[in-house]
Amino acid sequence: MRYFCIEKELGIDELQLKEKPVPRPGPGQVLVRIRATSLNYRDLLMVEGSYTRNLPLPLIPLSDGAGKVVEVGAGVSRWQPGDRVAGTFFQDWDGGEITEEATKSALGGGIDGVLADHALFGERGLVRIPSHLSFEEGATLPCAALTAWHALQSGNLTCGQSVLTLGTGGVSLFAQTFARASGARVIATTGSDAKAERLREMGITDVINYKKEPDWEKSVWELTGKHGVDLVVEVGGAGTLGKSLKAVCLGGHISLIGVLSGTTGEVNPLPAVMKKVRIQGIYVGSREMFEAMNRAIELHGIRPVIDRVFPFEETKEAYRYLKSGAHFGKVVIAV
Ligand SMILES: NC(=O)c1ccc[n+]([C@@H]2O[C@H](COP(=O)([O-])OP(=O)(O)OC[C@H]3O[C@@H](n4cnc5c(N)ncnc54)[C@H](OP(=O)(O)O)[C@@H]3O)[C@@H](O)[C@H]2O)c1
Repeated sequence: MRYFCIEKELGIDELQLKEKPVPRPGPGQVLVRIRATSLNYRDLLMVEGSYTRNLPLPLIPLSDGAGKVVEVGAGVSRWQPGDRVAGTFFQDWDGGEITEEATKSALGGGIDGVLADHALFGERGLVRIPSHLSFEEGATLPCAALTAWHALQSGNLTCGQSVLTLGTGGVSLFAQTFARASGARVIATTGSDAKAERLREMGITDVINYKKEPDWEKSVWELTGKHGVDLVVEVGGAGTLGKSLKAVCLGGHISLIGVLSGTTGEVNPLPAVMKKVRIQGIYVGSREMFEAMNRAIELHGIRPVIDRVFPFEETKEAYRYLKSGAHFGKVVIAV
């Protein structure tokens, strides 16, 4: 099998393309021919060494992959050859609250990931991809889509409420799609006029350019009739949290997800207290959440927004493209 790995040195240029025999599935394992993978911001942080200092090297990166089951090990009853599947981000988080054990089972983090033409999964670490999606589309779901789904579910979003998304990356575009499918209003920010236009073409009329309007939280406040949004999908981190706290309504909800604008900085916690805001950390999601999300994706005929598909051999180009921030939605690697 062919695979990329981070061996000793960190950095996109240090990714190594290697070959080894295709593994056979042991008891309870499933061998999948990976047909597509997708990149998340996390994968960039990972390969550049800013995600964690304790990467178990050598490591096959990436959490998000979709493909076809080719062989199952002894005792496997959930899958058979030919099934179209995607791996779960956490191989050992079935449902309920996340456990310490589950946090160690992240693909492309604690254990080898899916940047390869074949990969082994535990039989409980797979879900069926929605029937109307291609492998490229299915490969966008395990991290970005599930995180967005979890973020909205944790805020108990209901029809008629409002959601604020930041930027036009993978998590934010999925959050917009799910929020609109739930009957919610979306207010979106982006740092690019061209991307703002694309959002409008998709039907999102309330768009704010956060570069042209650095006080974008004030625009959100005005757009909501000085009420504030019910839910913020907070992917910005230290540089945006203070503003999100100002943009959210009394008793509102902030799903704390990402660090696009950094991990350190001063944030005034007072608005959270005075507005009785609920702030919930989100860490991707469980297999059961993934299955529920896929039912919704199928029901609503939802299709992920894919910006570009790179061939496997151009994996480093795909990483560089993600790093450039030029993308709108997901960057995919066909395998
Ligand atoms: N907690 C979790 O489980 C979890 C799961 C997935 C992702 N994350 C985190 O969530 C964040 C987003 O991940 P992703 O994979 O969706 O990223 P991504 O696809 O790479 O999105 C990047 C986009 O975010 C926007 N952006 C960049 N800096 C920004 C800023 N200061 N303020 C607002 N928007 C900004 C830009 O969009 P525009 O060009 O439109 O401005 C950029 O293109 C990352 O920090 C990631 O680590 C966390």
